[in-house]
Amino acid sequence: MSTINYAEKIPNNVDLSGDKTLQRALEHWQPGFLNWWQDMGPEGSPNYDVYLRTAVSVDPSGWAHFDYVKMPDYRWGIFLNQAEAGRQVNFGEHKGEAAWQDVPGEHRANLRRIIVTQGDTEPASVEQQRHLGLTAPSLYDMRNLFQVNVEEGRHLWAMVYLLHRYFGRDGREEGDALLQRRSGDADNPRILQAFNEKTPDWLSFFMFTYFTDRDGKFQLCALAESGFDPLARTCRFMLTEEAHHMFVGESGVSRVIQRTCEVMNQLKTDDPAQLRAAGVIDLPTVQRYLNFHFSVTIDLFGADESSNAAIFYNSGLKGRFEETKRTDDHRLQGDAYRLLAVQDGALVEREVPMLNALNEVLRDDYITDSRGGVARWNRVLEKAGVDFRLTTPHKAFNRKIGTLAKVRVSPDGKLLSEQEWNAGMDQWLPSASDRAYVASLMGRVVAPGKYANWIAPPSVGINRQPVDFEYVRFN
Ligand SMILES: [Fe+2]
Ligand SMILES: [Fe+2]
Repeated sequence: MSTINYAEKIPNNVDLSGDKTLQRALEHWQPGFLNWWQDMGPEGSPNYDVYLRTAVSVDPSGWAHFDYVKMPDYRWGIFLNQAEAGRQVNFGEHKGEAAWQDVPGEHRANLRRIIVTQGDTEPASVEQQRHLGLTAPSLYDMRNLFQVNVEEGRHLWAMVYLLHRYFGRDGREEGDALLQRRSGDADNPRILQAFNEKTPDWLSFFMFTYFTDRDGKFQLCALAESGFDPLARTCRFMLTEEAHHMFVGESGVSRVIQRTCEVMNQLKTDDPAQLRAAGVIDLPTVQRYLNFHFSVTIDLFGADESSNAAIFYNSGLKGRFEETKRTDDHRLQGDAYRLLAVQDGALVEREVPMLNALNEVLRDDYITDSRGGVARWNRVLEKAGVDFRLTTPHKAFNRKIGTLAKVRVSPDGKLLSEQEWNAGMDQWLPSASDRAYVASLMGRVVAPGKYANWIAPPSVGINRQPVDFEYVRFN
C-alpha cells in the first residue's frame, strides 16, 4: 500500500520531494490557496472541529480515514491512482499507442484548456456553498457540507498539480487565475455558467450535489479515459471522492421528501399552502428546484454539435463515459448519432456524425444515470402512499446552450410560444416566492441528534457513527 507522507508540507504520492522545482512552485502557490480558503471557504468555520475523512492512501482500504480536523488544517494533497502497467491510448487516432506520460506538443493547448475548465469548477462550488454552514439543518448535514467543500478544494489541488507539473509557466499562470476568478463575479466570473449561479439554501445544495456533482462524475469519467496518463490517474482518484458528494445530494433530497410525506399523511393534505404553514417543502416546489438544477446542469455538457468534442476525442484527450467497456471500434469515424433539432415548429431527430455529437452522447449518458436517483426518490413517495411523482424535465426545457437554446419547451416537451413560456414559468421553475419560502425555513440546528423540521434524520450516520453523533464541535 502506498501511504501518503503527511509530514511533507504538501501531502502527496507523486514523489514531490524528488522534483524540487515543482515542489517550490507548489509551495509558492499554497499560501494563495489558503488565503482563498480563508476568504471564500465556509463562512465562520475556522475554529470548528469537524469529523472529516482524509485520504491516507489511494488504496480502497486507506483513502477514507476519519477524525476531527479544523478545516484550515485539512491536509489538501496530491494523490494519483497507481499507474496501470502497459496502459495505452484507448480511443481516437492514437489508439494502441502507449499512453502519454508527458503532454504531446500538438495537444498542449487543448489539454490545458480541459484541465483549467475542470479545475475552475472545484473552487467555484466552494464559493457557491460558503454561507450554507450558517443554516445547516443538523450537525450531520453541516459535516457533510464541509466534507464536500474540503474535497472540492483538494480537486483544485489535483488540477493545479497537473498545470504546474506539465505546463510550465503558462500552467503556473493558470493556477493563479484559478484563485482569482469568483463565482458570480460580474468582472471575473467562473468559466461555466452553472458555477456562477447561487446555492442559497439547502434544497439547492442537495439538488446541486445530486445533479451538478454528477456532471462532475461524468466529466471525470471521460477524463479518466484520457490518453494523457497523469490526467487519467488523477481523475480516477477524484471519482472516489465524488461518489460521496452525490450521496449527500441524493440522500438529502430523499430526506426532504420523506419529511414532507410524513406531514402530508398527518394532515391528510397535499395543499402546498397547508404544508408550508406546517413548515415543510411541498412536492411541487421540490419538482421546480429539480427542473432548475437539471436543466442548468445539462447545459454544462456543451453544444450538442461540437467540433471541439470531436478534436478532444480524436486526439485521445477525452473519452466517452466507460470508453474501455464499450465494444465498438473506439474511433467512431463514419458513425452517426441522433440529435434533437427544430423543424417547422416541431422537435425532430436529426443524424449527425458521431464524433461531432460526443457532448450529446455524454449528456445522454448523464441523463440516464441521473434518472436512477429520481426513481429512488419516487419509491419514497410510493412507500408513503403519496401519489405525486418527480420527473426529470424534457432535455429541451430551459436550455441556454446549443440548438435547444433557440426554443421554448415545457418540462413535458411541448414547444411553446414566448407568451406561453412566460405564463408557465412560475409553475416550472422556482419562483421568487418559492425561494423566499425555502429561505424562510433555513436556520441553524446545532444540538447533536436534532434535525430541522423540514428534513428527516438520515437512516445511518457517517462512518457508522450514530445519527446523534457530535459531527461538528464548536470552539
Ligand atoms: Fe470536484
Ligand atoms: Fe464534487
